[in-house]
Amino acid sequence: MRHLITLDDVSTDEIQRIFALTQDIKAKFAEGVREPLLPGRVMALLFEKQSLRTRVSFEAGIAHMGGSSMMLGEDAGFGKRERIDDFTKVLCQFVDVIVMRCKSHETVEQVAQHATCSIINGLTDVAHPCQALADLFTLKENLPSLDDAKLAWVGDANNVARSLAVACGKLGVHFAIASPAGYEFAPEFLDSLKQQCPAMQMTITTDPHEAVTNASAVYTDVWASMGQEQEQEKRKQDFADYQVNGHLMASAPKTALFMHCLPARRGQEVTDEVLDSPNSIVVEQAGNRMHAQKGVLAWLLGTQGS
Ligand code: CP
Ligand code: NVA
Repeated sequence: MRHLITLDDVSTDEIQRIFALTQDIKAKFAEGVREPLLPGRVMALLFEKQSLRTRVSFEAGIAHMGGSSMMLGEDAGFGKRERIDDFTKVLCQFVDVIVMRCKSHETVEQVAQHATCSIINGLTDVAHPCQALADLFTLKENLPSLDDAKLAWVGDANNVARSLAVACGKLGVHFAIASPAGYEFAPEFLDSLKQQCPAMQMTITTDPHEAVTNASAVYTDVWASMGQEQEQEKRKQDFADYQVNGHLMASAPKTALFMHCLPARRGQEVTDEVLDSPNSIVVEQAGNRMHAQKGVLAWLLGTQGS
């Protein structure tokens, strides 16, 4: 049984296979063709945090593919009415895939341990693999090639940054990250990354200008993620020098794209000037969430997977 909990779960070849499926599905969708690749397949969604892009793109995506979905609400009693192993073993008899957005990464791991259907991580405090797959697919569409590409992350070394770093490592993209002291990647994460992607090109700095130099794309995310609301004010001060604005973008090549997973806090981590600039591909990125997740679903559940 295959799951997508972090990008450690997929090889470079498997990511390329997912991208090939994504490209084909997206091109056909643009022509008005919605191939029923997953007839009768059922998706359950378990979300402990808010979502627009992830939830709606998964639900619309599986519907386009001839399957269906159901959002499990409070009444299902996840984590409250019964033990997680009992809950999981029962639910997996009814559905083919469970997409989960959880406060704690361990919860998703715990469900995966007992699951007899595929589990997809739709964001935890640790990782956001579907986001990173869609983002690298978007980058691939927007650049002549991913070879020699450099993605510069400015801000918190958070869930999205971790997944992007792994995706870049596996696809041969130089990953640069500028974070303030105290908000960098943990050494254990860097060790695991090095082990998986020994040839990876990586720049780690506290200087955003250094990170964006020669970047093909500059990426940022909110300074306080969901669940860190109480740290908002402190983070505003700690990240004050990490705003992606016209001044910072002037240190990047003129062609550098701007990326953000959204939702954005305009005026904090990014200015309107950058977010709404012609180089910004944030809306396209969000649109590709659906296409890339269809690629993931076809790979995990379809007959075209391998
Ligand atoms: N980027 C992203 O995952 O958006 P949502 O939180 O709206 O799903
Ligand atoms: N880092 C953000 C991403 C939201 C899509 C969060 O976890 O809230």
